[in-house]
Amino acid sequence: MITIKSAREIEIMKEACKMAAKTLHFLGKNLEIGMTTADINKMCHEYTINRSAIPATLGYHGFPASLCTSRNEVICHGIPSTKEILKDGDIINLDVTTLYKGFHGDTSHTYLVGNVRPEIKKLVDVTYNCLMAGISVCKPGARIGDIGAVIEEMAHGNGFTVVHEYCGHGIGRVFHEEPQITHFGKRGTGVEMRPGMTFTIEPMINIGKRHSKVLGDAWTVVTQDKSWSAQFEHTILITESGAEIMTTFSPEEWTADDDKL
Ligand code: MF3
Ligand code: CO
Ligand code: CO
Repeated sequence: MITIKSAREIEIMKEACKMAAKTLHFLGKNLEIGMTTADINKMCHEYTINRSAIPATLGYHGFPASLCTSRNEVICHGIPSTKEILKDGDIINLDVTTLYKGFHGDTSHTYLVGNVRPEIKKLVDVTYNCLMAGISVCKPGARIGDIGAVIEEMAHGNGFTVVHEYCGHGIGRVFHEEPQITHFGKRGTGVEMRPGMTFTIEPMINIGKRHSKVLGDAWTVVTQDKSWSAQFEHTILITESGAEIMTTFSPEEWTADDDKL
């Protein structure tokens, strides 16, 4: 079932999405070489619960942490660890999902750690452009396949590949709901977008081949060929005239309190 959110529900869900966006921004600002991914998890957990929100990934189908931390060849669902240290030249995706007032906000960003090789920087830039291209085609009457088509064109046009096994998703009171948002596909196919629909777009783009595998911990998804992978994610709302990014805030909305754990 695809849920259409009411104006009142959208208002509350925007608060959850803003909380997720601010949490992610806080983590990005506080990333340092030498830090472990467990340190990031601790910050995320405390930042969230100190604001009366819940980190939605913690315990979700048994996931053991308050966010996903996916570094270098990790595509998604990386588990924070005290043994994983950020080093100069790494890239790391932080994927924050916040449950607040009954609604979810889901957003991720790939950060550069120190000096990153130019071809890896390009991967990260192109992946961000893939997300924004996907968002740009969203409006009532457009179809889900339009998103995948434009993302695939942008990735392939730059010599990169698109992960097929993991997708964006409807979101609201439920973390993962219909429809599935694939990051590949054909224009004019799939579910038609309608005002009040809320879903994520979260392309995972690889520098090498597109294929993935899950590690023995049953969560961490890596590229089969060990090539590096980047990802960006927003939760978006279909409006009467187009689409709105829900997991964002304007600079004047960032207060001194937002810099505190
Ligand atoms: N936040 C991820 C997404 O974008 C889902 C993580 S589920 C977890 O959909 F269990 F791995 F945390
Ligand atoms: Co998501
Ligand atoms: Co996410």
